[in-house]
Amino acid sequence: MKINATQIINETIAIFKNSGADKLFSDFVKDEDYKRLHPLPLTATSIWIDTEEFKKEIAIWDFTFEQWGKDHTHLPRYGAALVNQNGTLLKNDPINGSLMAWNRDNPDKPLIETGCRTPTALMDLPSLQPLSVFNGYWCRSNILKWNCDAKFLPHIDTVVPSPWIRLWASMNPEIIVRFYNEATGELESVEFETGRVYVVDTSLVHDAVAVGDNIYQLFLSITPNAVSLVDLVIDPKRA
Ligand SMILES: [Fe+2]
Repeated sequence: MKINATQIINETIAIFKNSGADKLFSDFVKDEDYKRLHPLPLTATSIWIDTEEFKKEIAIWDFTFEQWGKDHTHLPRYGAALVNQNGTLLKNDPINGSLMAWNRDNPDKPLIETGCRTPTALMDLPSLQPLSVFNGYWCRSNILKWNCDAKFLPHIDTVVPSPWIRLWASMNPEIIVRFYNEATGELESVEFETGRVYVVDTSLVHDAVAVGDNIYQLFLSITPNAVSLVDLVIDPKRA
């Protein structure tokens, strides 16, 4: 089914402008760097998370998950903060939801990824230590837990030049992730390896749906000055 990607992108840009969130951007990934780091919708890195260890460890922290955002609350989508504004795990954390929706609903208190720089206790999970290569570069990051039929509708999370770099990993295979293909005008599913961390091009319109229960995903953001680090971890085979 064809989608109107231009409309989705323009609506997002309008919300960021109206809320003043766009005035909070201070640094950007240069266009040429962004292109090199995002040759594909999902670009493989050499970083892997032990998914079985992660699932054992996160079970103890189940109480830190809360319903994702204030929109579409009938969907079984839950989030917990990995990196937020002050490093404290709290309920009604604005980052446990879409920041586009937050900026739409709270135009007097705009919040963007780079306004969240402090890791929470969840970042100390032993299974997440392969991520420590990015310590000092973190911005807004979450763990999401989805049950069957949870989804994100088609959206973007950045525009180029981008004020952050997004990384993504799924701890379970039962999720379909799709990206906009300009040539066909449609969203097309993209393959991934469970437990592998990817650089994700969220300037492309994308969506996702869970086809099983207890699907854990890592949604990670790092600051623009991490470009050379990302160059180092991109898998040369880009498998
Ligand atoms: Fe997204």
